[in-house]
Amino acid sequence: MKRVPFLDLTRQDRELEEELHRDLEDFLRRGRHILDGEVRAFEEEFAGYCGSAHGVGVASGTDALLLSLRALGACEGDEVITAALSAPPTAVAISLAGARPVFADIDPQTLTIDPASVEERVSPRTRFLVPVHLFGNMADMPRLEKVATRHGLIMVEDCAQAHGAGAGGKRAGSWGTAGCFSFYPTKNLGAYGDGGMVVTDDPSLAQRLRMLRDYGREDRDTLHEVGLNSRLDELQASFLRTKLGHLEAWNRRRRELARRYLDGLRDLPLGLPPLPGGEEHCFHLFVVTCRERDALRAHLASRGIETAVHYPLPLHLQPPFRENAAHPCPVAERAAREVLSLPLYPFLSEEEQDTVVAAVRSFFRSA
Ligand SMILES: Cc1ncc(COP(=O)(O)O)c(C=O)c1O
Repeated sequence: MKRVPFLDLTRQDRELEEELHRDLEDFLRRGRHILDGEVRAFEEEFAGYCGSAHGVGVASGTDALLLSLRALGACEGDEVITAALSAPPTAVAISLAGARPVFADIDPQTLTIDPASVEERVSPRTRFLVPVHLFGNMADMPRLEKVATRHGLIMVEDCAQAHGAGAGGKRAGSWGTAGCFSFYPTKNLGAYGDGGMVVTDDPSLAQRLRMLRDYGREDRDTLHEVGLNSRLDELQASFLRTKLGHLEAWNRRRRELARRYLDGLRDLPLGLPPLPGGEEHCFHLFVVTCRERDALRAHLASRGIETAVHYPLPLHLQPPFRENAAHPCPVAERAAREVLSLPLYPFLSEEEQDTVVAAVRSFFRSA
């Protein structure tokens, strides 16, 4: 039986081997390890790619969110509305910034934050809205922008899964006051370790972030405030610059493979992700919903097919946030029971994908 891995990063590394070796050799020759030319160049290139004026490299996506909220003045007592279905760090970053995460329910079709639920959660203490472009699909930014404007909320986008996704001709990260990215290795643009970036059009926000990521100092010997050590390092920046050159082609391939899944899985009793016409969705993950999710997952595992669940526990039910959960999020709770991520990445072969499709179809035939 041929195994179909959920994700095999070695395939990408093999393709990039020569370029990465060149990056490493250049790095070793330069002898500059922290906050130097590679970081500056990557900040400029990635911000430009997102359609933003400034980029500030940081140590992770969690720190990108935490530092953005801090730089924008989040403090104790502030409420920050975000999606009930997301990766735990979305809520962790809000808490670390001293604010209180308030969870809005999600849309049953797109599984991204539901603007109507956001509106219901707004209170006099709400200061920020953190939409998550979940699985690579843009949240409904035009409607969320209206809600944010109506209530005077600052929008900080969680773009950790949305490198290159867009809506209405604007890329993820360029809608909000700040856009926060992760370069965790499995992301559409992944480093060889941790990394992150904040993109913004606001020069004073960028300047404050540059201080906050570097202990809070304004020059080598003077602190402006108390910050963190949260720097993107030169070697990661150099690898990420190389990979950025491939991102568009990789995202195109993800969309092609998504289209093949949608064709192959049509007419089954499964919820399928939306395939917007243009480049909106960058298919970080291909997530279906199925009433018998666990049985389907076991069926695929018995045929050597690895799958994953993003996410089995919604954020409002995570132990540290349960006390915040004044409002139930029934759509997110149901999604957490039904979501299943099938293998999808640019180096998945069509043969492997056909194996997955045949195995999913056989589950429903035998059921
Ligand atoms: C939606 C979302 N937000 C935030 C993060 C945090 O990113 P990092 O792991 O780089 O801290 C992740 C990645 O795990 C994520 O998927």
